[in-house]
Amino acid sequence: MIVVVGGGTMGAGIATSFLLIGEEVTLVETSIEFIEGAIGRVTESLERLARKRDDLDPAEALTRLDARTDHGSVDAALVIEAVPEDLALKQAMFTSLEEIYPPNTIFASNTSSLSITAMASVLASPERFIGMHFFNPVPVSSLVELVVGESTSDTTVADARAWVERLGKTPIVVKDSPGFASSRLGIALGMEAIRMFESGVASAADIDSAMQLGYHHPMGPLKLTDLVGLDIRLAIAEHLAVELGPRFEPPELLRSMVAEGKLGKKSAEGFYVW
Ligand SMILES: NC(=O)c1ccc[n+]([C@@H]2O[C@H](COP(=O)([O-])OP(=O)(O)OC[C@H]3O[C@@H](n4cnc5c(N)ncnc54)[C@H](O)[C@@H]3O)[C@@H](O)[C@H]2O)c1
Repeated sequence: MIVVVGGGTMGAGIATSFLLIGEEVTLVETSIEFIEGAIGRVTESLERLARKRDDLDPAEALTRLDARTDHGSVDAALVIEAVPEDLALKQAMFTSLEEIYPPNTIFASNTSSLSITAMASVLASPERFIGMHFFNPVPVSSLVELVVGESTSDTTVADARAWVERLGKTPIVVKDSPGFASSRLGIALGMEAIRMFESGVASAADIDSAMQLGYHHPMGPLKLTDLVGLDIRLAIAEHLAVELGPRFEPPELLRSMVAEGKLGKKSAEGFYVW
């Protein structure tokens, strides 16, 4: 049995992925209203997947989902949190989880930017703590970054790796460091593409084609920025500039576009018109 704490975008996706491999999943949310929202997201996701998979019965999968506002059974091999990106909130949550679950339960955070070492520092048993960074949309994304904190044990890494492989996904192992592997490289490429566009090196479409056709990226860095949201990428770049230095400093054009409300696909305009 595995436990997912937080049933928003990522928590619902993570719960769905474990249901797909036949696991029993307990999903913990803060209120009945949020539980209903989470069950709705899981149901929708299972139904969408079932349209392409004959072997998937959403109704059967949902019988293995126990969504609740308390923790119920403590017989869990793995607890993954996907609550909002706030270090104090996550630390307080893991402090209380440590009082509930036995020491052999692995604790994982789906944080996209916070330090795993800092998060684990409040625990009596930090060796059982690891980052499991899933990607959206979780059920169809094949990558999971395993983020290894200073105290994470080799056994915890091996167990987490085995879980990711059971999910049919590919784990990569990354030392706890700002931006892990994915955001750090993705932001470096994205910021340089914006600087090139800003200084008139080429059009947005041609910069994207350079990476798509020349380097076999499935999508160019400017279109990806539009899809993720310019505001989200600006916040990550600002965080990495503080942590890793001025090479991650966001270009002026990105700041001005965000200030003008050009956030990409969600606002209908970014580097492209949507
Ligand atoms: N959205 C993404 O693309 C993405 C990708 C990778 C990682 N992440 C990370 O995943 C985490 C969650 O992100 P999200 O986009 O799913 O957020 P979200 O806002 O969609 O969902 C968070 C959920 O947590 C619930 N919650 C808050 N406090 C709780 C508590 N104490 N107990 C139980 N549930 C609680 C909220 O009700 C909400 O439903 C964040 O750390 C984020 O950085 C997000």
